[in-house]
Amino acid sequence: MTNLEPHLMSATEGPLFESPLRHIPRLEDLAPVSGRRVLVRADLNVPLRATDAGGYEVSDDFRLRASVPTLSWLLEQGAHVTVCSHLGRPKGKVDPRYSMAPVRERMASLVPDVEVMENLRFDPGEEANDPRFVQRLVEGFDFYVNDAFGACHRSHASIVGPPYLLPSAAGRLLEHEVEALSRLLINPERPFVAVIGGAKVADKLGVLVSLSEKVDHLLLGGAMCFTFLAALGHDVGESPVDSAFLEEAQALVLAHPQIELPTDFVALSTDEAIGIGDSPSETVRDFGSDLLPGWRALDIGLATRIAFGESIAKARTVLWNGPMGVFEDSRFVEGTRSIAEAVASSPAYSVVGGGETAAALHKFGLEDRIDHVSSGGGATLELIEKGDLPGLVALRSGASGVVQSSS
Ligand code: 3PG
Repeated sequence: MTNLEPHLMSATEGPLFESPLRHIPRLEDLAPVSGRRVLVRADLNVPLRATDAGGYEVSDDFRLRASVPTLSWLLEQGAHVTVCSHLGRPKGKVDPRYSMAPVRERMASLVPDVEVMENLRFDPGEEANDPRFVQRLVEGFDFYVNDAFGACHRSHASIVGPPYLLPSAAGRLLEHEVEALSRLLINPERPFVAVIGGAKVADKLGVLVSLSEKVDHLLLGGAMCFTFLAALGHDVGESPVDSAFLEEAQALVLAHPQIELPTDFVALSTDEAIGIGDSPSETVRDFGSDLLPGWRALDIGLATRIAFGESIAKARTVLWNGPMGVFEDSRFVEGTRSIAEAVASSPAYSVVGGGETAAALHKFGLEDRIDHVSSGGGATLELIEKGDLPGLVALRSGASGVVQSSS
């Protein structure tokens, strides 16, 4: 498919929906790249762990492996490839803790012959989207490829700048991610069930509003569900509540009967710290949807696991983002495990997004039974919420000759 085709997808009934990939050039649309210098923006933002030798090493290379198809294709075509990425949040300053050295080392074992630049966020121009930084970045390159799906929701220099200066294309990972997630946006098979967990209501409210219009069942868990329960008048004990969002949370739940909240929990006494015990103790207790003072809920309970599992089993499309509890602690792992197993066993088209959720799947050895495990966290949610991303807009506008505004 070339960049000139509009990527319209027809609905069985109703209007035509536009794919977020419309008008975006693919790798094959670039002029021959043999002997030319190609700058690839990837999302190589991976977790690191300290080594005994006092350095750091990559502890999960999922995103590095996901970037290989684009890099290999470009090398096979005879291009000279340089890859750039951010790593962590060094806030515009050189900080050895966020050096790309461990990433460079691991990349060399996956795709030799690719140059890896130093962390883009060591320069304040990256996050500020400074045009002078963009200019310096693209200097000496003939083409730009954006394969950084996980960072495409950031209007940062390396994501939104180069398409206006160089012939550009979407890489394989970006294309694959957007295609897979578009199946949730464009005529999803029904019932469509979304399971959303995680810690902060602030990070998820936008996508919850959007999903509540799209899905048949919206199952909420994780720490953020206590703001919703508190808004409905439940006693949540010492579980976290974001009081700034109580009103919005209440309005959302009351207007959308498809939102389902947990009806029971596994809780820990505030006398005990999370993660120190490995076996059940007298400081762990089950509650219904109301807790007592001195207790905080850290996982969904058995009745909720069964109810959520039944909804997922009947689904034809499932989206899961965010753990149901503190699954790193074995006393609070069962809620997240039961959702992972239900999603993996479901015949539905299944999409899982978010670093922690992908880590949970990996822990349970279930990632091969999911149709699409997204390499994005915030980007996945923003694409679902808004149907587009700044990185996609830049590729589309750059390709159509639109000049970037200076604002
Ligand atoms: C991610 O890990 O979600 C992406 O790499 C974006 O990172 P950021 O949230 O630091 O911009």
